[in-house]
Amino acid sequence: MDKINKKTLSGKETDIRHPEIGVIHGPNLDMLGKREPEIYGKETLEDINNLLKSRAEELGVHLTCFQSNYEGGLVEKIHEAYEKKWDGLIINPGAYTHTSVAIRDALLILSVPIIEVHLSNVHKRDDFRHRSLISDVAAGQIIGFKSMGYEMALSALAKMVSRS
Ligand code: DQA
Repeated sequence: MDKINKKTLSGKETDIRHPEIGVIHGPNLDMLGKREPEIYGKETLEDINNLLKSRAEELGVHLTCFQSNYEGGLVEKIHEAYEKKWDGLIINPGAYTHTSVAIRDALLILSVPIIEVHLSNVHKRDDFRHRSLISDVAAGQIIGFKSMGYEMALSALAKMVSRS
């Protein structure tokens, strides 16, 4: 957690902690805007991250956004989340949702709340998209609301981590 000192009305120094929240995007999500816009929406990943950063400021949380097309890159970022003591994580592992034991195992290292997000309603799509290897590791899933799902996840997570 980010720690800053702030003087209160009484003149006393007090610590304000800004929870650290991470957003991890998996493969092909860097192609949002170009990639099947009827399924994933027209916004780019940069649009989504910028929107989340301004929401994070309003919510008083610090946000780190990361995307990789590589399974190992995603695993290492999750390790970093552990090492740097992030307070919560939003993750859309893309296609790795349905296949990656390595990402599942990495998430199991964390003891902070995780929210799984999918832009599309995976349950209306191919059968192989119905199974998520991380759904039982996550506190909850937000599925099918396109970019709005990330905002919903951020609001929920900001509340969850500020209560803990
Ligand atoms: C996705 C759904 C996955 O099945 C797909 O492979 C993706 C995106 C989504 O956000 O809807 O890459 O995670």
